[in-house]
Amino acid sequence: MTVPLSPPSQAAALRRVRDDLAGRGLVDGLPAAFLAGVTRFARPPQAELDALAAAARGLADRLAAGQAGDEDVPLLTRVLFFAGHADVLAAAGVPTPAYDVLGSYRDNLDRPVGPRLPERPTAGGRRWRVLGRDVGFPIGVPACVLNGGEDWVAHFARNGYSVLTYKTVRSRAHQPNQQPNWVFAQRQAQSLPPGAAAEVIADPWDWVAPGSPAVSTVNSFGVPSLTPEEWMADLERSLAVLGDDQLLLVSVMGEDADGEGAGALVEDFTRTARMAEEAGAPVVELNLSCPNTLDRSASGVKPPLCLDADATVAVVERVRRALDDRTGLVAKLSWLDEERLAALVPRLAPLVDGVAGINTLQSRVRRSDGWATFPGRELAGLSGAAIRESALDFTRRLVTLREAAGRRFDVLAMGGVTDPASFEALFALGADAVQSASGAFANPYLARDCIAALGETLPRALEPAR
Ligand SMILES: Cc1cc2nc3c(=O)[nH]c(=O)nc-3n(C[C@H](O)[C@H](O)[C@H](O)COP(=O)(O)O)c2cc1C
Repeated sequence: MTVPLSPPSQAAALRRVRDDLAGRGLVDGLPAAFLAGVTRFARPPQAELDALAAAARGLADRLAAGQAGDEDVPLLTRVLFFAGHADVLAAAGVPTPAYDVLGSYRDNLDRPVGPRLPERPTAGGRRWRVLGRDVGFPIGVPACVLNGGEDWVAHFARNGYSVLTYKTVRSRAHQPNQQPNWVFAQRQAQSLPPGAAAEVIADPWDWVAPGSPAVSTVNSFGVPSLTPEEWMADLERSLAVLGDDQLLLVSVMGEDADGEGAGALVEDFTRTARMAEEAGAPVVELNLSCPNTLDRSASGVKPPLCLDADATVAVVERVRRALDDRTGLVAKLSWLDEERLAALVPRLAPLVDGVAGINTLQSRVRRSDGWATFPGRELAGLSGAAIRESALDFTRRLVTLREAAGRRFDVLAMGGVTDPASFEALFALGADAVQSASGAFANPYLARDCIAALGETLPRALEPAR
């Protein structure tokens, strides 16, 4: 097993961060830069703002005097992240979230933030079979902005993930929703009951320390996409950075842009899937599950497509016929209740190589002052620890339905995986691979930790070649 050692000691890392900040003349300006970040999208109540300002000033004083100690690392991480200097932490190997939530979708496209391991952690030569390929330790990052381009794919591939899903792309460019797009949901540290409609309070300045297994987030990106010319070229480069024991699926979504009806939606899904195949995608994942798509005809946000079984099957059937037989096909679903999932899975089973789920839970999200966290969009996607029970419930039922269908498809499970225990819980239910978005965002060492804990014992590995 190759699991790189932990990064340098906390004291050495802290010294490096301090020297780097001092060398770049950033220490004095830290409190102001931090407050600019904290108030970027909304203003905390005055007492909270004063407390944050005082804490940042105290930290800057201790850094200037060479007196910052280990106990300052959590605050330092938060201050540097919101001050836009998370790269200083990452360079010293200090855990930091991987995505700059203050920057735009475009700003982030080629800029994964979190630390990168010097060497890819692996479970030695052990391999697992996923979607017809032999892959390394079967942890992955699902379709999301964390796999939005070549630099991200390379980043997570290096940090130990073997089953990556390229972010959902479309048949034409699509702008992201207005910022903010991604916010910590620090008050949602516990899992909600399966499928519960959540009312979430989340402020843009909320924070959860990197590595906390209790991390939850809310997001409202609106499934942005580059032009097909851009993403197809990027996809080819992304595929080229992977090892032969790493798999990149490509998530696609269709739309009925001109309101022509169900047929147009099916055709657009098909067109986009074929573009992905043309660019080299070994497996196409159909995003039938997004809770963030703006609805121009009504006010607000559309429900996920997979709630409509007939529309879902029409898309999957048509895409299956249009793709080459060698291209794998995965249907990504959101959490569905018993009746809906039981009705859908037998219809999907003959058509797909895999079913992925769950997506984020569509939730009503407000700031603590009562205003919408995401202006103009009351509904957004909740993920991370808060949806763990939903993911377990969905995966358990999906695996049972797979057995009943008597037809083998792989299960890509996700939802609330933030540490080795939550990874193992989904795998133990019968998932073939387990992916993490919120956990991978908040803990740059998640895959390494899972491989260190489970690399030698995780069941269902292939026999080594003799
Ligand atoms: C910021 C963000 C963006 C996402 N974008 C997509 C997307 O483009 N397509 C998709 O199928 N799922 C998307 N998802 C959903 C994730 O792939 C995953 O299903 C969900 O977050 C549950 O996993 P988690 O609890 O590990 O975050 C997104 C999730 C997040 C947090």
